[in-house]
Amino acid sequence: MAAFLAFLLLLLLSYGAGSIRCEATLNSTADLLSLMDFKKHITEDPTQAMSSWNASVPFCQWTGVSCSRRHPGRVTALNLFNLSLSGTISSSLGNLTFLKELNFSSNHFSGKLPPLNHLHRLKVLDLRHNSLRDTIPEGLANCSRLRVLDLSSNSLVGEIPTKLGLLTNLSSLCLSINSFTGTIPPTLGNITGLNYLSLQINHLEGSIPRELGKLSDLLSLTIFMNNISGRLPNELFNLSSLQTLWLTDNMLGKEALPPNIGDVLPNLQFLSLARNMFEGHIPTSLINASGLWLIDLTNNNFYGQVPSYLSELANLSDLYLAGNHLEASDNEKWLHAFANCTLLQALNLARNQIKGDIPSSIGNLSTNLQYLNLGVNHFVGVVPPSIGNLHGLTSLWLSKNNLIGTIEEWVGKLRNLELLYLQENNFTGSIPSSIGDLTNLIQFSLGKNSLDGQIPANLGNLRQLDRLNFSYNNLHGSIPYNVGKLRNLVQLDLSHNNLDGNIPSSFIKLQKLKHLDLSDNNFQGIIP
Ligand SMILES: *[C@@H]1O[C@H](CO)[C@@H](O)[C@H](O)[C@H]1NC(C)=O
Ligand SMILES: *[C@@H]1O[C@H](CO)[C@@H](O)[C@H](O)[C@H]1NC(C)=O
Ligand SMILES: *[C@@H]1O[C@H](CO)[C@@H](O)[C@H](O)[C@H]1NC(C)=O
Ligand SMILES: *[C@@H]1O[C@H](CO)[C@@H](O)[C@H](O)[C@H]1NC(C)=O
Ligand SMILES: *[C@@H]1O[C@H](CO)[C@@H](O)[C@H](O)[C@H]1NC(C)=O
Ligand SMILES: *[C@@H]1O[C@H](CO)[C@@H](O)[C@H](O)[C@H]1NC(C)=O
Ligand SMILES: *[C@@H]1O[C@H](CO)[C@@H](O)[C@H](O)[C@H]1NC(C)=O
Ligand SMILES: *[C@@H]1O[C@H](CO)[C@@H](O)[C@H](O)[C@H]1NC(C)=O
Ligand SMILES: *[C@@H]1O[C@H](CO)[C@@H](O)[C@H](O)[C@H]1NC(C)=O
Ligand SMILES: *[C@@H]1O[C@H](CO)[C@@H](O)[C@H](O)[C@H]1NC(C)=O
Ligand SMILES: *[C@@H]1O[C@H](CO)[C@@H](O)[C@H](O)[C@H]1NC(C)=O
Ligand SMILES: *[C@@H]1O[C@H](CO)[C@@H](O)[C@H](O)[C@H]1NC(C)=O
Repeated sequence: MAAFLAFLLLLLLSYGAGSIRCEATLNSTADLLSLMDFKKHITEDPTQAMSSWNASVPFCQWTGVSCSRRHPGRVTALNLFNLSLSGTISSSLGNLTFLKELNFSSNHFSGKLPPLNHLHRLKVLDLRHNSLRDTIPEGLANCSRLRVLDLSSNSLVGEIPTKLGLLTNLSSLCLSINSFTGTIPPTLGNITGLNYLSLQINHLEGSIPRELGKLSDLLSLTIFMNNISGRLPNELFNLSSLQTLWLTDNMLGKEALPPNIGDVLPNLQFLSLARNMFEGHIPTSLINASGLWLIDLTNNNFYGQVPSYLSELANLSDLYLAGNHLEASDNEKWLHAFANCTLLQALNLARNQIKGDIPSSIGNLSTNLQYLNLGVNHFVGVVPPSIGNLHGLTSLWLSKNNLIGTIEEWVGKLRNLELLYLQENNFTGSIPSSIGDLTNLIQFSLGKNSLDGQIPANLGNLRQLDRLNFSYNNLHGSIPYNVGKLRNLVQLDLSHNNLDGNIPSSFIKLQKLKHLDLSDNNFQGIIP
């Protein structure tokens, strides 16, 4: 006890403030006690971040501690960001009544979030990326000056307290990546200055409350990966400041988007409604939201023509329209239009109802294009060799169409390809030896075509390959010894061909292999 008092005295004398008025001393004693109690609850400190929290250092100089100038010895900020700390957050922090900022983000704090209801000066509470459990204490609503409340990436449960709507000074409310249940409280609509509301990756249900339409300064609304259902309230389309609307993976929709969406949300830059139940036409007015760079409407029930008008969006970088009911009466038209989008990086039109040829203007798409998916449609005819101009491509899907002709003229030119899916067409001719140049390939499927000839020996150059499927073709000859150099192979399917000879002894080096299918060929000899 005596030692402790001596320690305390030392600390008090050493915090170095000029005026040791009785009142300040008493209050700063409370702050010191709070900090020491907080330290006691830290169970692991692998980087020794808390080593400065000792008697020979004034506590206002401890790592992460900031004190007031006007009120010496009163703690105003605690920032222990990303220090690998474990333990619980002691409720004694609730006594640091001068605290304005508490930032423990990216640590391993567990246990319950303590009631911090006396922290009337608190403006920033950032506890994201920890392992906090249990519910949000309602008392938090008494921290009425809060501007930033970030509890994302924890293991919090229960409902979002309706009282959070009392935190009317919030500009940022982030509760994403937890296990919150129940509905979105309509009271959040009272936080009229809110800029960021993120509720994604929880188990929220019910509909989006129309009260959110009052958040006229909202820049970002992210609610993806929940169980939100029903229609989008009309009030949402009053949020003219909105830049990010990210509602993927819910059960929203069974309705069309308002035809004037681009006029009423002119600042939209990121629109993602994938995996919901929206239907109808993709509104032309979207082109009036001229800053749009990402549109993701994957897996809904949109119909009509491929929206070539979206090419008027000069910043368009990512357009994902897979899994809808889109058609195209004129492939030349939409390809020609998207050739204007020089920033286009990803175009996904897979799983729609697009028929007809692939025009050679496909080669005029941006060389920035990295991802092109035209799989599972009704394309016919020969793939124009101009596709080989798309040097930027890292992923190409043409699978499950009715394409014919050879791949020889273009495939070897796409040297940046990592994923190449050409299966389930009717490609003919041989597999060109130029595939040996595609040294970045990770996954390669030519299954279910009518390819013949031999497997090129330089297939062994593709050292990154982890999946290779040449099944259901008419390949003949033997398997090149080099295939044994593909040490990353996990899946190899050469079944249903006319291959013969021995299974190369080099196969014993394919140590990562989990799935090997060589059935329905003419192999002979021993299995290595
Ligand atoms: C500081 O201490 C004084 C006297 O003990 C007390 O009246 C006052 O409420 C305290 N202030 C705070 C903010 O705790
Ligand atoms: C915090 O304050 C409460 C009462 O205001 C007191 O009971 C408690 O002991 C204090 N805790 C610490 C660690 O200072
Ligand atoms: C206290 O912390 C300071 C600064 O980190 C360090 O130099 C000193 O060795 C520590 N003293 C004790 C007794 O741990
Ligand atoms: C946290 O620190 C580690 C190194 O200690 C670093 O690798 C990591 O990027 C940091 N995380 C953040 C979010 O800054
Ligand atoms: C928390 O601290 C980190 C590191 O200083 C900072 O990057 C982050 O923005 C802070 N959080 C808030 C909400 O200010
Ligand atoms: C919040 O503040 C109100 C009034 O200031 C008070 O009545 C209430 O008890 C406080 N709630 C908590 C949980 O501290
Ligand atoms: C909100 O912030 C303003 C300006 O910083 C301040 O005057 C007001 O008191 C705050 N509101 C609350 C409820 O603390
Ligand atoms: C906040 O919003 C709710 C529901 O929208 C409303 O009933 C309540 O009166 C509002 N509270 C305050 C304090 O404005
Ligand atoms: C959505 O609800 C269904 C059925 O109640 C449930 O199985 C599923 O886990 C929920 N999904 C999420 C993300 O909460
Ligand atoms: C949208 O805001 C306007 C005025 O800003 C208002 O007249 C209208 O009622 C609002 N509409 C909805 C659906 O909230
Ligand atoms: C491409 O852009 C140019 C200049 O902005 C424009 O004149 C032309 O009509 C556009 N072409 C298509 C097909 O949209
Ligand atoms: C594939 O093309 C070949 C040669 O043109 C033809 O004989 C065969 O019937 C076609 N197969 C399919 C499934 O369309």
